[in-house]
Amino acid sequence: MAKKVTKAVIPAAGLGTRFLPETKALPKEMLPIVDTPTIQFIVEEAKASGIKDIVIVIGKGKRSIEDHFDANPELESILEQRAKTKILETIEKTNDMNIYFIRQSHPRGLGDAIYTARSFIENEPFIVMLGDDVMRDKVPLTRQLMDSFHKTGASTLAVKRVAHKDISKYGVIDPQQEVEPGLFNVKRFVEKPSPDKAPSDLAIIGRYLLTPEIFGILEQTKPDAGGEIQLTSAIDELNKTQRVFAHEFKGERYDTGNKLSWLETNIQFGLRHPEISTDLRKYILNLAKELEQQK
Ligand code: UTP
Repeated sequence: MAKKVTKAVIPAAGLGTRFLPETKALPKEMLPIVDTPTIQFIVEEAKASGIKDIVIVIGKGKRSIEDHFDANPELESILEQRAKTKILETIEKTNDMNIYFIRQSHPRGLGDAIYTARSFIENEPFIVMLGDDVMRDKVPLTRQLMDSFHKTGASTLAVKRVAHKDISKYGVIDPQQEVEPGLFNVKRFVEKPSPDKAPSDLAIIGRYLLTPEIFGILEQTKPDAGGEIQLTSAIDELNKTQRVFAHEFKGERYDTGNKLSWLETNIQFGLRHPEISTDLRKYILNLAKELEQQK
């Protein structure tokens, strides 16, 4: 019987250089999607999946993430007095989660960020959720990975099919066999291959379920040419000693870590937001007409 998964690590200590100058003083994980910080969606997905304890890895300039997840009794009582119940609910949604913070002293890559959480995780399987990657599906992706783990007892990564021309931005799997619909045995994991060398179009996205043996491997993993400890390389090593599966995600993914994708995410969520959807839709349709006339 596979151990229960109750803990998640959210790495949020990266420099966010693709979003400079905004990220000089403000974390990209706090960038709003309409009115909600990106990382709030990640914590809500963890909660909806049955995760109890979360550690967020932060670094320099990331204090606002701690403040966001702290209760704010003064604000809460003002909203209560003014009977702003709906708004109050939005700021209390994850107050019942156990959220801890740990610091990555230097942003030495995703592998290093996860390694800093080793004593929090102890000897248990755990979830990794990237702080800037938002997922939407009927069953939350984290829950899908946990369900898969209950059957296999093995580390499982989320993957998604991406356009071939974009494949070099991702870690990619070389699938061996589709053991059941959407679940792959993997030959090897390759970090950012060029399109002509990519073994598939199945890209690793921001959710992982890992067994604790990953920590021993991360300890031995050497930094790459850019000084970063790559999680993909460590997972490729793990796959040599125990099974690692890839689970294909068919839901929606929003990568908020780059400018264009963040804007697209805001438009998509805005079009579904009850307060602004009608006006935003009108605005977009008018803008499209104007742009068409300018052609
Ligand atoms: P990214 O791959 O988006 O890297 O990290 P980045 O450094 O933040 O951004 P760019 O490439 O410079 O624009 C994915 C997630 O992993 C975290 C990030 O905060 C982000 O949520 N991360 C990355 C860390 O916690 N530590 C690191 O050293 C690197």
